Amino acid sequence: MKKEWLISIKQRYERGSNDYDRTRAGWVSGCPFVMELGEIMKVLEGGSTLEVGTGTGKFVPHLNHLVGVDIALNSLRIAKRKGNSELICADAHNLPFRESVFHNIICSRSIKFFPSLYRAFSEMHRVLRSEGRAIITTDYCRDSPFYRLLVPRLYKKIKYERHYSLQDIYDNLGNMEMQWHKYFLALFPFLYEYAPRYLWTLLMKLDEYLRGVWGGWFVMVILTKGTSGKQVS
Ligand SMILES: C[S@@+](CC[C@H](N)C(=O)[O-])C[C@H]1O[C@@H](n2cnc3c(N)ncnc32)[C@H](O)[C@@H]1O
Repeated sequence: MKKEWLISIKQRYERGSNDYDRTRAGWVSGCPFVMELGEIMKVLEGGSTLEVGTGTGKFVPHLNHLVGVDIALNSLRIAKRKGNSELICADAHNLPFRESVFHNIICSRSIKFFPSLYRAFSEMHRVLRSEGRAIITTDYCRDSPFYRLLVPRLYKKIKYERHYSLQDIYDNLGNMEMQWHKYFLALFPFLYEYAPRYLWTLLMKLDEYLRGVWGGWFVMVILTKGTSGKQVS
């Protein structure tokens, strides 16, 4: 099952990489991206950063000392053109690095494609330095009222993709500890994706208010190497 899942996702992103930046414009350069990057910049420490599921490299032009990992080689070829970074084709469940090497880990909108979130977190735990942080974001957050209203109706059967609530993420942490979380995109997400630039500031302010009321479609969590977290068996 795990192998079939990984092959299917790899094929999907090998095929889809050429169109990715155009069809996902909101997530790689639009209002949701600007919100995400702004939040990441606030918490990123100096030093090396590993991005797991780097895709076509939306962070490559913005971050120094970035090492990106993805299972889709075609996506990495596109990422390579965007700037200076080290890119490696590998699986998030089996990272090709020694222990405790990275100051930061970023994983944006990719955990929903991992057959074992628990295993991916334990790999992040292994390669993260003791004082390091992992910044994880994911869309299709099950805590959002829009998710609950729409997704079960629109997507009857979702294959090789798993959507998480904050509690689901917590349940898969292993030895990681959740330090902080924040919701984004409190309104229906397409509003942000297609919003013209002159509305971004207004949308961001409205979002800040509403996400405090009912949560959001996009969640960011910050994880640290825990000492009192649940043990990986
Ligand atoms: C929705 S895209 C997100 C890409 C990029 N982070 C972004 O936000 O534009 C998900 C990415 O995760 C990658 N991915 C999925 N499963 C993976 C795995 N097991 N190991 C490494 N990368 C994986 C896919 O190839 C794809 O590039």
